[in-house]
Amino acid sequence: MSIANEDLINAAREARRNAYSRYSRFSVGAALIDDRGHLHVGCNVENAAYPLGSCAEAGAIAAMVLQGGRRIAKIAVVGGIGGIGEAGPCTPCGGCRQRILEFADENTIILAVDDSGEWQEYTIDALLPASFHLPGI
Ligand code: THU
Repeated sequence: MSIANEDLINAAREARRNAYSRYSRFSVGAALIDDRGHLHVGCNVENAAYPLGSCAEAGAIAAMVLQGGRRIAKIAVVGGIGGIGEAGPCTPCGGCRQRILEFADENTIILAVDDSGEWQEYTIDALLPASFHLPGI
């Protein structure tokens, strides 16, 4: 199940190359390793009807679930506006923090990566403290 951070980040960068971000120009790639050691990737897919756009993390998580994965061991997120460059690490948006939480545990690692390939490492509790859970489930 173990994968070097650099390899996961490279997979996210590759996915980002296919991002469909014609409205925001902010392209994002996500790559995750699931509990079985399988790799899944996603990119953002925007839409002329703006709210219909989907995030890179949502794509990677959907791919994982489709393949039977149920736990995220590690996820890398890479994003920014090409050519602007001063953006810091791309941390998951609020909605994607909740999406990650659904398939995370205390060992899940989230890598927020900047354009130069530097990353910061987070747990889901650090990104989404006091998070929402359905009681009893
Ligand atoms: N985006 C992601 O794909 N993931 C995030 O966690 C942050 C935002 C996308 C959505 C939209 O296509 C673009 O980045 C700008 O918000």
